[in-house]
Amino acid sequence: MMRTSPSTLPGIDALWPLCLEIAAQRRSGRTAPPDAPSPVAWSAARGFALQGLWDDEALELFDLLKPVLDRPPAGTPWAIGQLGQSLDGCVATHGGDSNYVNGPEMLVHLHRLRALCDAVVVGAATAAIDNPQLTTRRVPGPHPVRVLLDPALRLPAILRVFCDRQAPTLLACDAGRAAEAAQRVGADQVLGVPGLTRADGSADLRALQAALLRRGLGVLFVEGGGVTVSRFIEQGCLDRLHLSIAPVIIGAGRPGLQLPRSTAMRDCLRPPGRVFRMGADVLWDLDLRAAMPGQRA
Ligand SMILES: NC(=O)c1ccc[n+]([C@@H]2O[C@H](COP(=O)([O-])OP(=O)(O)OC[C@H]3O[C@@H](n4cnc5c(N)ncnc54)[C@H](OP(=O)(O)O)[C@@H]3O)[C@@H](O)[C@H]2O)c1
Repeated sequence: MMRTSPSTLPGIDALWPLCLEIAAQRRSGRTAPPDAPSPVAWSAARGFALQGLWDDEALELFDLLKPVLDRPPAGTPWAIGQLGQSLDGCVATHGGDSNYVNGPEMLVHLHRLRALCDAVVVGAATAAIDNPQLTTRRVPGPHPVRVLLDPALRLPAILRVFCDRQAPTLLACDAGRAAEAAQRVGADQVLGVPGLTRADGSADLRALQAALLRRGLGVLFVEGGGVTVSRFIEQGCLDRLHLSIAPVIIGAGRPGLQLPRSTAMRDCLRPPGRVFRMGADVLWDLDLRAAMPGQRA
C-alpha cells in the first residue's frame, strides 16, 4: 500500500463498495480467510489490508474503518459506540437539542457506521427527543435494524421509526412487558428480552446483546445518547468508541460519558486511541476492549 496524492488514483467512491462487500461477507459468516474482494487482502494476523495505490482520503478512511471490518466473525457479539460532544463534554443542550453538535463529515461517518453494522441502538431519550430515522440516507449501503432501548415503555407509537417502514425496527423491553409493547407498536416491532430488567430497574445489556445475537444481529452500533453509551461501557459491552469532539462550548448541557467516580488517576480507564480529523472536529477511535480485556464474559 502506497500513500500518494494525484487525483487519478482510486478514492473513497471505489473504496466504499469494497467495505460494504466485506461487511456483507462477514454478516453471512464467511471468514478465515474471507473471500476478500480484490484489491483487499486478508490474513489472520493482520486482518484486512488494502493493496495497490489509493488516494490519501481513501487510505485514511480504510484506516479508520479497519477495526469495524476486522471485527470477530458472525456469532460473536461486538459493539462500537459513538458520541459527538462539545469541548465541555456535552452531547446536546440542556433541553436536548443536538442538531448539530458535529460537522457534516461526522454525519456521513455515522451513516457509514450504520451501514457496516447489523443494528443501530439508541436510548429512549434520544428516540423521544430526536425522533430519528436511523437510516443510511447519506451513503450507499443497507439500513441497519433499528433498536430502541425502552425498558420503561415510554416511547409513543407515532415515532418515525415505528411508522416509516424504511427498515426493520425493534422496541427492546423486558420479555415480561412484550405483550404490552406489541399492543402499542405491533408484535413485529417488539423484542422482548428475557431478563432485561434487573432488580434495580436498570437494563442488563448483555441480555440485550444475547437476544439480538439470536436474531443474527451480532454487530451493534450504539449511537447514543450519553446514558446509553455509558451503560454499555459500564457493563463491559462496548468494544470500541468513536468519540468526536467539536469546537463548540454548550455549557450545562446533557453530558456525554457518565461513569462511576474514580479515586486515583492510576485507576482511570486509558484506552489506546487513534486520532482522525473530521472537518473541524477531532475523532478519537478508542479501543475499549484493550483497556478492559477481562470484561467480556
Ligand atoms: N451528540 C451525539 O452524538 C448524540 C447522539 C445521540 C443522542 N444525542 C442527544 O442525547 C440526548 C439524549 O441522551 P441521554 O443521555 O439523555 O439519553 P439516552 O441515552 O438517549 O436514553 C437514556 C434512556 O434510555 C434508557 N436506557 C438506556 N440504557 C439503559 C440501561 N442500561 N438501563 C435502563 N435504561 C436504559 C432509559 O430510559 P428510561 O428513562 O425511559 O428508563 C434511559 O433514561 C438527546 O438530547 C439527543 O439529542 C446526542
